[in-house]
Amino acid sequence: MDNKEAERARARELAAQFADRGDATGWFEAFYKEAKGDNRKIPWADLEPNRFFRAWAEKAELKGDGRKALVVGCGLGDDAVYLDDLGFEVTAFDISPTAIEWARKLHSGRDIKFEVMDLFEPFRGWLGAFDFVLEVYTIQPLPLEMRVRVIDAIASFVVPGGEIVVVTRGREDDEKPAQMPWPLSRKDLSRFEEHGLIQTSFEIMIDETEEPPAPRFIVTYRAE
Ligand SMILES: C[S@@+](CC[C@H](N)C(=O)[O-])C[C@H]1O[C@@H](n2cnc3c(N)ncnc32)[C@H](O)[C@@H]1O
Repeated sequence: MDNKEAERARARELAAQFADRGDATGWFEAFYKEAKGDNRKIPWADLEPNRFFRAWAEKAELKGDGRKALVVGCGLGDDAVYLDDLGFEVTAFDISPTAIEWARKLHSGRDIKFEVMDLFEPFRGWLGAFDFVLEVYTIQPLPLEMRVRVIDAIASFVVPGGEIVVVTRGREDDEKPAQMPWPLSRKDLSRFEEHGLIQTSFEIMIDETEEPPAPRFIVTYRAE
């Protein structure tokens, strides 16, 4: 088992322990804490912006022009930094206080608001308040029974005329997701469209570093 696989196995173990107590999200804080500041212990934290999002953003020639962006479940904050570099006014949040403290330390010179926040209990002022909402890998580790609620919460942040970008592991509609992180299907994603969001692009990129190579979906929506 390589390092990443060992850390993923540890994440699954912790997630299962918390789930047994009826807590679907508490394991994230425990996991970040356990890493003791070593990002190699966090399989998703490579101190780089997500490469699938970056590939999409470069192709789309994404520019912030001072628009307000929100990064959902930002972890150590590298996607927030990327959006800051593109000229967005960035707010980024995570449920884990340890992750947010870590992100603030890593990016202390940046004018980014890093906030500890639960997706399901956001500031009321954030609802319908952001021009650009970025979601990378937050939906997939949350239990399938919560999927609709998670998507509803993410959809609530965007302003009319704004945009949401989702980067996620992907699966076919008829494929049973085997283990956490549970990839999203097109049917799962269609929930975004129940919020008056129009799907504006759907790209599939392959992560060749995984064995077997695994699809990532990069999906964009515009709010009417
Ligand atoms: C798989 S990690 C991805 C982190 C980051 N987006 C990245 O790609 O590096 C999922 C993140 O979502 C956060 N998270 C999970 N549930 C959350 C919730 N209810 N509210 C806010 N953040 C949450 C976790 O703490 C974790 O940092």
